[in-house]
Amino acid sequence: MNPIVREIAERAADLLRVPVARVEGVLAPPREESLGDYTIPCFAFAKELRRSPQEIAAELASALEELSSVERAEAAGPYVNITVDRPRLLAHILGQVLREGEGYGSSGEGRGKTIVIDYSSPNIARPFTIAHMRTTVLGHSLKRIYEHLGYRVVGVNHLGDWGTQFGALIAAYKRWGVRERVERENVYELFRLYVRFHEEAKQDPSLEEEGRAWFKRLEEGDPEARELWQWFVDLSWQVFQRYYEILGIEFEEVRGESAYRDRTGPLIQELLEKGIAKESRGAVIVPLEDSEDGKDDKEEPPLLLRKSDGTTLYATRDLAAAIYHYETYRFHKKLYVVDAGQSLHFKQLFKALEKMGYPWAKDLVHVAFGVVLFEEQRMSTRAGRVVFFEDVLNQAVERIRQIIEQAEKKTDLTEEEKERVAQDVGVGAIVYANLSRSRLQNIHFRWDEVLSFEGRSGPYLQYTHARLAGVLRKYGREIPQAPDCAALSQLQEVALAKKLEQFPSRVQSAAREYDPFLLSDYLYDLALATNKFYDSCRVLGEPSEVEGARIALVYAAKTVLKKGLELLGMKAPEKM
Ligand code: ARG
Repeated sequence: MNPIVREIAERAADLLRVPVARVEGVLAPPREESLGDYTIPCFAFAKELRRSPQEIAAELASALEELSSVERAEAAGPYVNITVDRPRLLAHILGQVLREGEGYGSSGEGRGKTIVIDYSSPNIARPFTIAHMRTTVLGHSLKRIYEHLGYRVVGVNHLGDWGTQFGALIAAYKRWGVRERVERENVYELFRLYVRFHEEAKQDPSLEEEGRAWFKRLEEGDPEARELWQWFVDLSWQVFQRYYEILGIEFEEVRGESAYRDRTGPLIQELLEKGIAKESRGAVIVPLEDSEDGKDDKEEPPLLLRKSDGTTLYATRDLAAAIYHYETYRFHKKLYVVDAGQSLHFKQLFKALEKMGYPWAKDLVHVAFGVVLFEEQRMSTRAGRVVFFEDVLNQAVERIRQIIEQAEKKTDLTEEEKERVAQDVGVGAIVYANLSRSRLQNIHFRWDEVLSFEGRSGPYLQYTHARLAGVLRKYGREIPQAPDCAALSQLQEVALAKKLEQFPSRVQSAAREYDPFLLSDYLYDLALATNKFYDSCRVLGEPSEVEGARIALVYAAKTVLKKGLELLGMKAPEKM
């Protein structure tokens, strides 16, 4: 924490005879910037001190004003508004960013702790939809945020590669599949075959039978079934891998549902023996109605582990996967970044694990999120109303490329650089759009907003970063390490520095709430403050103390923006 704030809190605590943490807990920036740098709401202490908040405020104000680091302290009703010694405050903030550089905002809070993040986890033999886009982007950002806080993060891709639907797919392929077409169209063709299977099954019920028979063969290890299945997995992975590369994502563990197929049998057996699961009309279930927390959740449906036809389910494999992950990583937490539509599934899953007596069941978190809605329905929809990630990605890059082309006169980018920028900014726009709302909220995706170079958008943040990079290039010298902060007296300079100071706490809240939105929102404010500063304060060519101090501020803002963008999973282009 900044030493000036600490000094103020200590002095106030001393005076009021309360713990320092209490004062630190309420000390915050005031409602309006013009009121000063910090405020202490005194009603927080009125009751225990049996004094009026106004009286406390008045006493604090006169005592705090005596501190050398306080410029002004004024009582305003129940508040004390404090303006601190700005050059000292700015020297502290800039000094810290300059010293820590890329490591600014990092911490040791995660030392020795492992977080497993299950994210992306698409289903094979299907195109990646925009629902998968959101988990992919959210999970990746959380991964980077936790790493910045010192955690060891294991990114897990729990591919949907097992289940009765693969019997149907094999049956469909056997009937209508053309190898070359599958090779060419990949998941799109596989998906078409699958859709056709269900269409035709309506007329011809024998198809269902065929599908089930193929899944049985697959489960029993029949070579032909296995070979086809493996081929579908490999083809799908090739496609997914391309997206992960574009997004800069690598998984520490790619282990699909199929990896747990041999564990489900013994697991069900064990649960039956322990009396946690029971048979019910030929199926195996875990009843979950009895509540231990006293809350009335009689409505909780049981968790189904095995259907009456003997096949296991998504949930069964999830149960096995959770146990496997705990045994393998002894995680501090395991996060499941999966859409809110699966809330019941995770509630049941966690409850079942709790019933099994695993103390770590409390460390499982469903990081749920809302849907992405496309307002423009004419968006390329290759099949039905599903929007595919690949189309969105390609369109974003293409549209940014056009924007760059049209701005031709002003850019000094080479052809190669232009292509790079189109990629980084197109992809960045999509990433930012996915994080531009609190995770449980739905996102209304509109191209003009997503690709805009103004407002809450990826391009705006990246452009702001490139602008700062441009100033630094022109400056072309060493950044002063001990700038004369007395030269930074403009409102916009102080406001920008104070924004920079908030970065570490924003990274922490994003981790605590499992929501990178808290960081993306902050970065937008930071970009605004940066541009306000840039538009009103000339940097290059000013007298040397002013120029030196301002260039240090530019450098600090660039460093924080860059790190912030990286934590969201975006590139920070040096030129645009
Ligand atoms: N494959 C699933 C889907 O696309 C998501 C899997 C999420 N992870 C998990 N462990 N259940 O809906």
